[in-house]
Amino acid sequence: MKNKTPSYETQQLREFAEILRGRRTIELFLQTSVPGELLKDAIEAATWAPNHRLTEPWHFYVLGEQSITRCLDLCRSIVSAKKGSKAADFKREKWSEKPGWLVVTCRRSEDELLQQEDYAACSAAVQNLMLYLWKAGVGCKWTTGDIIRDTRFGDIVGFAEKEEFVVGLFWYGYPKLTPTQSRKELSYVLTNTP
Ligand SMILES: Cc1cc2nc3c(=O)[nH]c(=O)nc-3n(C[C@H](O)[C@H](O)[C@H](O)COP(=O)(O)O)c2cc1C
Repeated sequence: MKNKTPSYETQQLREFAEILRGRRTIELFLQTSVPGELLKDAIEAATWAPNHRLTEPWHFYVLGEQSITRCLDLCRSIVSAKKGSKAADFKREKWSEKPGWLVVTCRRSEDELLQQEDYAACSAAVQNLMLYLWKAGVGCKWTTGDIIRDTRFGDIVGFAEKEEFVVGLFWYGYPKLTPTQSRKELSYVLTNTP
């Protein structure tokens, strides 16, 4: 019988592809905390992302308990102004179940091209981080909700809005539930030119 496995495919490559395909955005986490050393290693791995002109434009803020509580209060205040106190209490409660909080920022640049490339580099770094954690059994949710654009957020996290902007707020932890997802067939997104 003919062996259908392509000659380039190795067990290691298959496992690597499995990590890439298997990572999912996690909504529900267990209340088990992630070891600080693991997170630190994931952040270190993140910094090996490609970055044009070696700008290393990223910064990682691991939030402690006080900052998390302030974020929860800010979340409540934002939702309360928009949707009232019942919705605000509900959201604060939901967010208080997120076990780990990490904020990734990108250095601001007045050069439009550099800014675009720096943001791309930060996104690559974030993917490194999420995949590293995923391989260790830890999931993330990347969020870009209202809170990251609130002027009070920078004060809580500890960065100057003039100098950095938020790429995302990341919740991380061991998944309680891993959702399924699908992607379009490759033929929708792949073109081979002559
Ligand atoms: C830049 C960026 C911002 C995102 N912001 C949010 C968000 O604010 N809320 C949310 O529910 N998901 C957010 N996500 C996660 C996507 O919704 C998620 O990646 C998508 O549904 C695909 O699911 P998957 O990550 O499991 O493949 C964001 C993803 C990216 C790349």
